[in-house]
Amino acid sequence: MSADVAPDLGDEGEVLQDREDRPVLRIGDLVRHPRQPWSGSVHALLSHLQQVGFTEAPVPGPLAEDHDDVGYIEGIGGDDACLLVTTDEAVAAVAQLLRRYHDAVATWRPEVEPVWFDGQRGAGDGGEHLVCHGDVGPWNLVWRDGSVVGLIDWEYATIGTRRTDIAYALHYLVPFRDRSYWQWVLGMPAKPRRRHRMAVFAEAYGIPVDEQLVDEVLASQQAGVDLMRTLAEQGRPRQQQLIANGELDREHRAVLWGQGHRHKFYAKRPRSRRGADHEERPGGLR
Ligand SMILES: Nc1ncnc2c1ncn2[C@@H]1O[C@H](COP(=O)(O)OP(=O)(O)O)[C@@H](O)[C@H]1O
Ligand SMILES: [Mg+2]
Repeated sequence: MSADVAPDLGDEGEVLQDREDRPVLRIGDLVRHPRQPWSGSVHALLSHLQQVGFTEAPVPGPLAEDHDDVGYIEGIGGDDACLLVTTDEAVAAVAQLLRRYHDAVATWRPEVEPVWFDGQRGAGDGGEHLVCHGDVGPWNLVWRDGSVVGLIDWEYATIGTRRTDIAYALHYLVPFRDRSYWQWVLGMPAKPRRRHRMAVFAEAYGIPVDEQLVDEVLASQQAGVDLMRTLAEQGRPRQQQLIANGELDREHRAVLWGQGHRHKFYAKRPRSRRGADHEERPGGLR
């Protein structure tokens, strides 16, 4: 951490993430992020979730001029949480969590019009469009005693559809990526049964598995690449750093993997032997 981030913390603060553009600190029961223009909107969303009993979102804490506090959720999160989605039970639990989030947010009618990180406004149209979490990857889940107890990191919340979040989650959970991801990021001991994992997720959420869903995952992969590029061009340090670290290339490879393996999600007996291994990072917006 750097002293200019929170000079008054003394011994109290624990660094959860030591990134210059987005240091994350734990101070007692609170998690402190740098304040963003959309922090107020995120806090309003978190308040709504608290009110309607969606307990896996952090409780909003105080907002200050330079920082934004939310409640700490005890458990395993971040990169370590990526290792906890190998089983069908875990995949189903994530899908059910996402379903409950969408059902909870669908009723939100904020008094003040929210503004999100990408400039979109509002809480959706009361129909298909609602506020998505926007970064539902295994790294933003918190697990305790084998159960998923937290969905954290709401900075990419914005307007979309339920299927925006579903497709994003499927990309990283199924995963729609090669061995370097399932082996080294998700820690899976053997090749994932991808179609099965997709079916488990879809059933637990309550939607059919069809070609449309597969195509939405592929579109989500491309949208992730486009968003990273756009935000970097807008001067966002995080995305510039991600690109400098080779993340854009990695995400682009995932797009190509998805396009090249689309047939696997329909064919009766899709089996091919392949396995280019690269060092992988968890991916996504993070
Ligand atoms: N509310 C929270 N409860 C528990 N841990 C948290 C919470 N918020 C963040 N963390 C921890 O801090 C890490 C970084 O925070 P996060 O909000 O995900 O930032 P980033 O945008 O950089 O991904 C997370 O991976 C997680 O380990
Ligand atoms: Mg995160």
